[in-house]
Amino acid sequence: MNHILAIESSCDDSGLAVFSPTEGIVYERTQSQLDLHRHYGGVVPGLAAREHLHHIPLLLKDLQGQYDLSNIDRLAVTLGPGLAGSLSMGIQAAQALAVALQKPLSGVHHLRGHLFSAWIPFFEKNSSTFRSRCGDFLPQLALLVSGGNTLLVQIDATLDIQTLAATVDDAAGEAFDKGAKLLGLPYPGGPEIEKNARNANPDTYSFPKAFPHPEEKKFSFSGLKTSLRYLLEKIPEETFNAQIFDLCASYQQTIVETLIHKTRQLLYEKIFSSLALSGGVAQNNLLRNEMQKLAQECSIPLYLPHPRHSGDNAAMIAFAAFMDPTHTSADVILNPSWEL
Ligand code: KG4
Repeated sequence: MNHILAIESSCDDSGLAVFSPTEGIVYERTQSQLDLHRHYGGVVPGLAAREHLHHIPLLLKDLQGQYDLSNIDRLAVTLGPGLAGSLSMGIQAAQALAVALQKPLSGVHHLRGHLFSAWIPFFEKNSSTFRSRCGDFLPQLALLVSGGNTLLVQIDATLDIQTLAATVDDAAGEAFDKGAKLLGLPYPGGPEIEKNARNANPDTYSFPKAFPHPEEKKFSFSGLKTSLRYLLEKIPEETFNAQIFDLCASYQQTIVETLIHKTRQLLYEKIFSSLALSGGVAQNNLLRNEMQKLAQECSIPLYLPHPRHSGDNAAMIAFAAFMDPTHTSADVILNPSWEL
């Protein structure tokens, strides 16, 4: 059987999934807390932990109604990085389940989950030959963009992951969220900015793009947010409503161009067999399209997660546990390390 039951609770999404190496994802549910946190303009850690406490047992009940738990062979849980209170809710539930089912439990690095999520569609098309075909698309250059992380990494055929560039301050998703807040748009800001940018002119305003040179292996988005704040101070209140669409389009374009620029520089420095995009910001259509163009320019395939696997979810944790059992020892629960 080899079914893997996974729990994800690193931030504000409670996720439960079952993955089978032969059938793929046989169960998955994600319970979002967005409606609660939107009210506060961002995730409130204490409330997030409390909500997991409420949602995880409900998800387990739902699973029990649809799936025979005796098919489970092993369990996996997100160890981190993430909010301590939120993580501990998932970890405690997974430990209790592992004891009750008398099955082994592994801890999964949240970012490895995001990175491998981009491979799930390929797995679904090639499940029987997947392991032997991984060598075809590795080494891979992967851009991981979420609310808490912005990284460019190299994934080797051994599944070792090397960070090639990372943000020195805000993550790309955080830049969307903080920019949206300045613009008076609700949380989370990424989808709101994207919606308002549709049909607007992205060349109306010019924002700074940090670290343009190839030797600068890093991102920075905090200056962009400050630059938006100064610009907004100069815009009269009575014209703001007419300008918000072009402001969103220009701001979004700056973030996407910054990400694409650094990705292109790295693609031209080394030989990669494929390109990948993952994390919550991977839902942004402009970014997806620009990554597709970049992959075409370099004649390599682009690996994209299903939109439902771009944000936090348990399917990617179960899949990472399947891909990467050596990196997911249960011992790590007692001695966590966030080295990729
Ligand atoms: O991976 P994720 O669900 O959560 C963690 O950060 O762990 O990512 C959430 C981030 C938020 O910052 C949100 O604004 C951003 O992903 N996001 C988007 C879009 N959808 C979600 N950013 C830009 N465009 C989008 N369509």
